[in-house]
Amino acid sequence: MSEKPMPETTWDADEFGWFGGEGAWGGRFMPEALVAALEELTVAYNEAMADPEFVKAFEDSLVDYANVPSPLYEAKHLSEQYGVRILLKREDLNHTGAHKIRNVLGQALLTKRMGKTRVIAETGAGQHGVASATAAAYFGLDCTVYMGAVDTRRQALNVARMELLGAKVIAVESGSATLKDAINEALRDWVASVDHTAYLFGTAAGPHPFPSMVRDFTRGIGDEARAQCLAKYGVLPDAIAACVGGGSNAIGLFTAFLDDADTAIYGFEAGGDGVETGRHAATIVAGGSGVLHGARTYVLQDDDGQTIESHSISAGLDYPGVGPQHAWLAASGRATYEAVTDAEAMKAFQHLARTEGIIPAIESSHALAGALRLAPKLAAEKGKDAILLINLSGRGDKDMGTALDYFNLGEPTGETA
Ligand SMILES: Cc1ncc(COP(=O)(O)O)c(C=O)c1O
Repeated sequence: MSEKPMPETTWDADEFGWFGGEGAWGGRFMPEALVAALEELTVAYNEAMADPEFVKAFEDSLVDYANVPSPLYEAKHLSEQYGVRILLKREDLNHTGAHKIRNVLGQALLTKRMGKTRVIAETGAGQHGVASATAAAYFGLDCTVYMGAVDTRRQALNVARMELLGAKVIAVESGSATLKDAINEALRDWVASVDHTAYLFGTAAGPHPFPSMVRDFTRGIGDEARAQCLAKYGVLPDAIAACVGGGSNAIGLFTAFLDDADTAIYGFEAGGDGVETGRHAATIVAGGSGVLHGARTYVLQDDDGQTIESHSISAGLDYPGVGPQHAWLAASGRATYEAVTDAEAMKAFQHLARTEGIIPAIESSHALAGALRLAPKLAAEKGKDAILLINLSGRGDKDMGTALDYFNLGEPTGETA
């Protein structure tokens, strides 16, 4: 499916966090109080990754605690329906129900190594908050989670989980009361507490070194999927797909495949009510270059360069920015990004539940919907042995409230005997 020639480039950031050359994507646009903290983090991170003991402790925690590697499951019914092999990377089976646990175990372990005692985090869907509260409990760290007030309502179950795990959850009322505003509040806290507090950033966005660090902690998704696919089928996938909020599950999957020219790479953003309505979170598809949360990247903004509110039915994709490595992958043509509407995602959510007995996160349903849109083209070009690999980033338990409203569930519809 990849018609475009691969550009000759490195996909990695330079030492200052620039993807695609200095001044292009990424960097570090932060108040002075945090520049020193980010530099301290960069040095500590680089040293930790060069220390085999740290790497082993991280990998052990993934295997022993987080139930990783996650399986690669061939969805037989979907494959029959769509005429290609459809493989699901089952990150929904990880402890705490999403890919997010990989990232926080890495960052929390680093926090311990740096001698800090408290972590803060922001969360949208709540999965990163739950993962952070979990890792804090596991490593004995104090934990505070910032969450937009709108998201605390649509993800109430996850708020309860975080509290049960011992975290303090702070509802943020400012702005659109969603993820962007939660990040602003977490950054404010960090400025005041940086001597003893680490900020566990939840996605592959933000200032250097977060985009690279989050990618490295989540890249196991793609490393595993690539090896599992080769072991089972003897070939690489023709196309891979993931949903893109800030971009952690997507970059975690994509990284292993960046140099595989015959594997096409697709990211699916939240198209909300439709990109043409303006009510969406399709940052790469409909945004422009700007600075948000410390990085130059694609941003949804008005004519004056002010960030505008995003909209998505999925709290985890409702973000007007995106990680800078995705900006580079889009600009270079290595990956293709498309929008999927709320309605398309909810249809895929229901479809997977009914055909495979798996209730996915609404975020992951965007990846599924987008990939199923591609499937007929792939089937026509490559036939029934073509492989379409989709990252199922999380499970849908947290989304049952939204599904209940959307599909009018909860009223028995069966006839009595
Ligand atoms: C299950 C799941 N998938 C995807 C996302 C989107 O985040 P990212 O783009 O960083 O993977 C979230 C965010 O909360 C999530 O909970």
